[in-house]
Amino acid sequence: MSKRQLTLTEPFKIKMVEPLRVTTEEYRHNKLKEAGYNPFLLRSDDVFIDLLTDSGTGAMSDKQWGGIMTGDESYAGARSWEHLESVVKDLTGMPYILPTHQGRAAERILYGILGGKGKVFISNTHFDTTRANIEFTGATAIDIVYDEAQDPEIDLPFKGNIDLEKLPKLIKQFGKENIAAVIITVTNNSSGGQPVSMANVKALRKICDDNNLLLVIDGCRIAENSYFIKHREKGFEYKTYKEIAQEMLRLGDAFIMSAKKDGLVNIGGLLTMKDEALSLKCKNLLIISEGFTTYGGLAGRDMEALAIGLKEVFDPDYLHYRIRSTAYLGEKLRAKGVPVVWPIGGHAVYIDAKKLYCHIPIDQYPGQALVCDLYLKGGIRCVEIGSVMFGKYDKNGQLIPAANELVRLAIPRRVYTQSHIDFVLDVFDDILEMREQTKGYRITYEPPFLRHFTALFEKN
Ligand SMILES: Cc1ncc(COP(=O)(O)O)c(C=O)c1O
Repeated sequence: MSKRQLTLTEPFKIKMVEPLRVTTEEYRHNKLKEAGYNPFLLRSDDVFIDLLTDSGTGAMSDKQWGGIMTGDESYAGARSWEHLESVVKDLTGMPYILPTHQGRAAERILYGILGGKGKVFISNTHFDTTRANIEFTGATAIDIVYDEAQDPEIDLPFKGNIDLEKLPKLIKQFGKENIAAVIITVTNNSSGGQPVSMANVKALRKICDDNNLLLVIDGCRIAENSYFIKHREKGFEYKTYKEIAQEMLRLGDAFIMSAKKDGLVNIGGLLTMKDEALSLKCKNLLIISEGFTTYGGLAGRDMEALAIGLKEVFDPDYLHYRIRSTAYLGEKLRAKGVPVVWPIGGHAVYIDAKKLYCHIPIDQYPGQALVCDLYLKGGIRCVEIGSVMFGKYDKNGQLIPAANELVRLAIPRRVYTQSHIDFVLDVFDDILEMREQTKGYRITYEPPFLRHFTALFEKN
């Protein structure tokens, strides 16, 4: 291969630009203090490179913007709904398709119906909104990703897989009548954006069949997961990304999607299923809380853009660029000596803050310290995925820490160029230089659920 072929170029050209504001470190210092050292509370105008999330932050294509203009805004039976429904039916193979305004609305509806006190949900790793929606009903959410996946350094192809040995034990422990659903999250966002293999989902299907359990696929990054399967799992080399996604989705009983990821749109969600009785219950809740069944909280133009996005996301040039550009950031950080979760996942690079800031005790949140330092040094915004997000307290008020103290640099789709990413890499030189001087944080305010969004901190 010639050198030119090795260069990773963005497979699109830029038609419209949005200015970024350059600020000083002093300015950012004041803004961060005002925000209670929680970057969720910063104004986006004060952020230079926003890696807070890949959710709803992507750039739409010219075709999607064209679809925005032709969206049908009829309340019922809109053309744009028919377009979306046919694309989603083809992708999932499921007959009952409900649109929602975003992923957590689908979660609230489905888990609100399935959950309740005494019920148990089992997943590779529940995403934060998934866990919150389940626990809000009084049910319990249990994560059983393989133990090896908790080790940020072990190089395995499918570190998102659910632990197939632990699952039968849990079914026995709680009784299958109490298991509300098994949820497989692909890729597994909360444990490093790691992929799930087809073999794992097939084996999971068999366990669910044997025990009469409902299998939900939380597949907001189903296209990115398909990329890893094609390139890492034997037998899929000659299948298209879309065929791989279709095969996986047909293994589920229900599919939840935050379309703000692989739907390539800024807002939208989906809830689809095979069972008619369950779909009727979901429809009722949808109408009460989201909107009529043919728009579910979305405008016609949103549904049009989503229908187009769900086709574009399987384009091989796009997916190759997407996965390789995330790996570019991760591989270069690793080469600098920054401890990253390995191998690099699909939508984000995860940094092991416990290792980077090994002098900061866990109850002083090393991940939050790194998040703040990245903003101070480079105007980069990102999120802690550790004990701020997942920590709990025991009855004495002592922190029960999360399994890992990670910081996520999520890459918005089709937004930043390689030079933006090179800037992020430069900022890490400063981070490495000042790592020993960095101090931890304490929480001064926290809400009862999803505390990372609105918690306030003070520097120690
Ligand atoms: C795996 C997973 N499930 C569910 C959600 C929730 O989706 P939304 O943010 O659209 O409500 C997310 C969002 O990041 C996610 O990553």
